[in-house]
Order: sequence, then C-alpha cells, then structure tokens
Amino acid sequence: MNVVTIREFDIYPDCLSHDAQSNLVDAVRSCLQTAPLFQPTTPRGKAMSVRMSAAGAFGWVSDRSGYRYEPRHPSGVDWPPIPDMLLDLWHRLAPDARDPECCLINWYADGAKMGMHQDKDEADFSQPVLSVSLGDDALFRMGNATRGGTTESVWLRSGDVVVMRNSARRAYHGIDRIKANSSTLLRDGGRINLTLRVVT
Ligand code: SIN
Ligand code: FE2
Repeated sequence: MNVVTIREFDIYPDCLSHDAQSNLVDAVRSCLQTAPLFQPTTPRGKAMSVRMSAAGAFGWVSDRSGYRYEPRHPSGVDWPPIPDMLLDLWHRLAPDARDPECCLINWYADGAKMGMHQDKDEADFSQPVLSVSLGDDALFRMGNATRGGTTESVWLRSGDVVVMRNSARRAYHGIDRIKANSSTLLRDGGRINLTLRVVT
C-alpha cells in the first residue's frame, strides 16, 4: 500500500475505494441513529465547531467537567459497536496493536475546524491512533511534541487514512479548514473524520 510519511505521520492516500467509503458512510449513519451527534464544549464552556459522537467501549466527550472518555453517550445509551470495516482496516495498518476501544466520529460542516492539540487522554501511548477522512478535503497540520515550532500541512482527501505512531503519536495536530464541495461522497457536503484509539 502506498504510504507517505511526514514527521512520522503515516499517510495512506486513497486507502479506501469509493465503494468502501460509501459503505463506511452507511455504517457511520447507522451508528449515529443510536448515538446522535452532539456539540461538545471546551472545559471553559466554548462550543467546538466540530460535532461529535463515537462507537466502541468508550467515547471521547468534552464539557464543563473536562476532556475524558465515557462508557456511554450523553443520552445514557451505550455507544454502538465499532463497524467491522474499521476493525479490518486497523488490523491491516496496525497489525501489532491492541484492538481499538473508541472510534471517535467527528463531523465538520463547512467552516468547522479543530485547533492544534495532542491526543493525550489515553493510557497507553505505545498504541497508535488511526484516522479516516470521508467527504470534503481538509487541511491537516502536523507539529511537534510540544506546542509551537514549525509545522507542515497536507490536504487530506476522502478515503485517505493517517496513522499516528512513534513520535507522531504525541505530536500536535489539527484541521485548519475544510474545502467546501470538494467531494460528492456526502449528500449534504461536509466532512466526517473517524479516529480509532486504544483508550485503556
Ligand atoms: C482529530 O485529531 O481528532 C481529528 C483529525 C481530523 O479530523 O482529521
Ligand atoms: Fe487528534
């Protein structure tokens, strides 16, 4: 499989075929029927522009009580299981890793973005994070193990997969912007990002 490595971020362009992407969108929509998207806020109470949900044993949530993993959706229902297609992808790209315990579902409408951050609410940083892009193109920025310093950016397109492991696992990263109407995968536009993580 084709891989481009930037600062130890492994980027697999066109990893998912168009059919695989549409099947995955169907699987995600079915997860969202059980666990609807919600609007997280930062611990200081600022609404995030990305809407979220999750699948798996844990979902990542954020509100006035802080950033954390929870075993249930804010409504009280269990998170739906992680779709098999994603588990297969994980096993293919991270064969030595433990099974993922969370699939975070990030929904970007036009204008949504995600500030530079580290994925650091997990217990075991030896485990990779795998992220799948669906829908509109997104400008992904990759930084360093500490905030600041030089960064490099790449446009992620629908079907691209990124694996963060080794030094990239602790590196700051974020989404600067979405390019509206750059993909026809999602009937109402926008972007879905799916992020698989081992939590415990
Ligand atoms: C994230 O870092 O949680 C999301 C990255 C992305 O949307 O591609
Ligand atoms: Fe992240």
